[in-house]
Amino acid sequence: MFSYKNGEFYAEDVPVSEIADQVGTPCYVYSYKFIEDTYNEYKEAFSKIEPIICYSAKANSNLSILKVFSSLDCGFDIVSVGELKKVLKIGADPKKIVFSGVGKTKEEIIAATRAEILFFNVESVDELEFINEIAISIEKKARISLRVNPNINPKTHPYISTGFKKSKFGIEINKAFEVYKDCVNKQGLQVVGIDAHIGSQIFEITPFIDSLIKLIELADRLLNEGLNIQYIDIGGGLGIKYENDEQPLSKTKFANAIIKELNGKPYKIVLEPGRSLIGNGGIMLTRVLYNKIGTEKKFIIIDAAMNDLIRPAFYDSYHEIVTAKQNNSNKDIFDIVGPICESGDFLAKDRQFPSVSKDDLLVVKSAGAYGFVMSCNYNSRPRVAEVFVKGDKYFTIKQRESFEDLIKGEEVVDF
Ligand code: LLP
Repeated sequence: MFSYKNGEFYAEDVPVSEIADQVGTPCYVYSYKFIEDTYNEYKEAFSKIEPIICYSAKANSNLSILKVFSSLDCGFDIVSVGELKKVLKIGADPKKIVFSGVGKTKEEIIAATRAEILFFNVESVDELEFINEIAISIEKKARISLRVNPNINPKTHPYISTGFKKSKFGIEINKAFEVYKDCVNKQGLQVVGIDAHIGSQIFEITPFIDSLIKLIELADRLLNEGLNIQYIDIGGGLGIKYENDEQPLSKTKFANAIIKELNGKPYKIVLEPGRSLIGNGGIMLTRVLYNKIGTEKKFIIIDAAMNDLIRPAFYDSYHEIVTAKQNNSNKDIFDIVGPICESGDFLAKDRQFPSVSKDDLLVVKSAGAYGFVMSCNYNSRPRVAEVFVKGDKYFTIKQRESFEDLIKGEEVVDF
């Protein structure tokens, strides 16, 4: 969906230079076909068991992106009332919404219970009590699953590992049985499932299967106790290729291993993929501002910064960067950095890169997930535009922020 044709970088059938000229830089560009194909790959791989696929909206929650997922019949994993309102706004089916997160507020619980979502993934005993109280007070039953913490090492970046004992997420799996049994006496709750999410950007099958084994074991015990466990939610986390030597699991291999482990048991599988549905479906466009030769390093200074794409600064993550016009000049080693006043403001460190000049357009790849959604206004930089490409057409799906947007809600107090 993103490649060179005759020396020019294209998003589907649109040269990205055309988008940059029209919309300005930096901007994010997403491919419709990528989303459609990737979602269909998931569906196909899992067709034997027809799971409920709940796209994890936090990965990219632009309304147009959500709308495409919804029109493909995809459900949603949400973590805030903001995400709830967004997915309801684009017409999502509440029966395909699961609500995760360790700190759900009263407002969030009321809104999601009223909307009759599929279930809450409850992360603590306190939260369970609170949901029960609220559901009783509004004369509803809240469907719940407990997010258990299976104590599994997903072998990924520590900031995106969530299934360890020491992690803030979930309820320790050994304690979960008793917590579930207590739910029987709670009038506001209906237990429907079990959930775990062990981390993100995972390349191995074993952590997923080890987690699933524990979930099935617990679900079986609970069924024996008369609790009606219908769903096993295995979270998200499937890794994608950012660097050429990375080998992500194929969706088929992932699905087959899960189907095999489930072994015909009566649980409906729920999936919460985020990154693997959109990560490689987006790029960020940025222009070169300056070249700078320091005493020990060479820098390419670009108009995008850590506030626009924080992943390299935050997780030291790698994003491939290429020139929009194929450039075969000799390569040298550069840091590709933004204009922000922080040493951590880089998009690439010690990167082999051809020589470029002012205004050259660069393409930062694999920016569809956790890109725009993690951007902020640091250094009073307006958030950038987002563009959606379908075939040879493109649409601005989020306007670049103006100065007015930047100061919206601020008051000048005259002391
Ligand atoms: N379900 C839950 C409960 C989650 O917390 C997450 C991601 C997902 C599903 C989706 O995981 P995925 O399929 O995208 O791996 N900002 C980080 C990633 C943080 C992931 C947070 N939770 C990054 O840029 O790498």
